Amino acid sequence: MTGRTNRQIALARRPLGDIAADDFRHRAVPVRDLQPGEFLVQNRWLSIDPYMRVRMNEARSYAPPQPLDQVMGGTTAGDVIASNHPCFAEGDRVVGLGGWQLYAIDSGAGFVRVETSAVPLQAYLGVAGMPGMTAWYGIRHIIRPKSGETIVVSAASGAVGSVAGQLSKQAGCRVIGIAGGPEKCRHVVDDLGLDACIDHKAGNLDIQLAAAAADGIDGYFDNVGGAVLDAVMRRLNTFARVAVCGQISGGYDTTPLPLADTSMLLTARLVMQGFIISDHRDLWPAARAELVRLVAERRLVYRETIAEGLDAAPTALINVLKGANLGKQLVRLS
Ligand SMILES: NC(=O)c1ccc[n+]([C@@H]2O[C@H](COP(=O)([O-])OP(=O)(O)OC[C@H]3O[C@@H](n4cnc5c(N)ncnc54)[C@H](OP(=O)(O)O)[C@@H]3O)[C@@H](O)[C@H]2O)c1
Repeated sequence: MTGRTNRQIALARRPLGDIAADDFRHRAVPVRDLQPGEFLVQNRWLSIDPYMRVRMNEARSYAPPQPLDQVMGGTTAGDVIASNHPCFAEGDRVVGLGGWQLYAIDSGAGFVRVETSAVPLQAYLGVAGMPGMTAWYGIRHIIRPKSGETIVVSAASGAVGSVAGQLSKQAGCRVIGIAGGPEKCRHVVDDLGLDACIDHKAGNLDIQLAAAAADGIDGYFDNVGGAVLDAVMRRLNTFARVAVCGQISGGYDTTPLPLADTSMLLTARLVMQGFIISDHRDLWPAARAELVRLVAERRLVYRETIAEGLDAAPTALINVLKGANLGKQLVRLS
């Protein structure tokens, strides 16, 4: 044994509806010795993502269920602190499937080395990581915005939405964000540079959308589904594109989210496409490189909400699901 103690958080039971702190089990186990071909990562940062709630359900979704009593899956960023692997050396900075724990042992399949001279390590969990690449894919490959078009992005202040909105602005579009509350809306306009922001908690979504998008909507990056999607659908222009990225308004329990009216699909000849970013790993290197460059050039700004210490991870996930985060939700582990 290495003499190190690994603290971990496992899934104790499958929640019904809202999740609670006691759905998780905290434990401490020794870090075992490395086998040939393995390396040890000290996880510095843990990414908290809405899909984690999906995996807490029994039913298979686009990702398999999180097994009970096993370390919660999740992406981490950290440092290689010992190595028996020919391609990973002590001191390497890495991002990968480290899970909700302080240390991870890997044989090279779960982690990639990252370069932190232009962006900080934890950016590879947010703006230059899976959320940023999700925005990049939905905008560049599904919505394909053209200069002068009107694009709407929901959860616009969040990890994915903040990148989707800024990439749409860079394409020369009028971009309208949708976010929860006046403080998030202020951030979306003043800091992210979008043209307008609608507060979905203020009610009158149809009236607010009609005022902000008087000429209709050409592209919608949908992070939330539900009533917001229905309201945007009613204002879509002919040949509009909808990138269906997330359905967080349903809470990601097992209740399906209905779509109120599908007639617009035909009458407006819409393209509506769901996508999961893990299906497009071949595009990740190019997407990541472009996002890193945009951040380094200060053409892409981002915010982080940071919870301190592994024990804060369950509450951080609860907070994301109720919208308490601004930008990327992270947990600082060490
Ligand atoms: N398809 C993919 O491959 C993929 C990959 C990554 C993420 N996603 C999805 O993308 C979406 C955003 O993920 P993220 O990591 O960037 O999270 P995030 O936007 O940083 O955080 C989630 C946000 O969702 C909003 N929200 C929560 N409950 C809501 C409700 N009832 N109605 C409307 N909005 C609600 C909240 O923002 P407000 O306070 O502004 O409402 C909250 O801050 C999620 O649906 C996620 O599952 C999909």
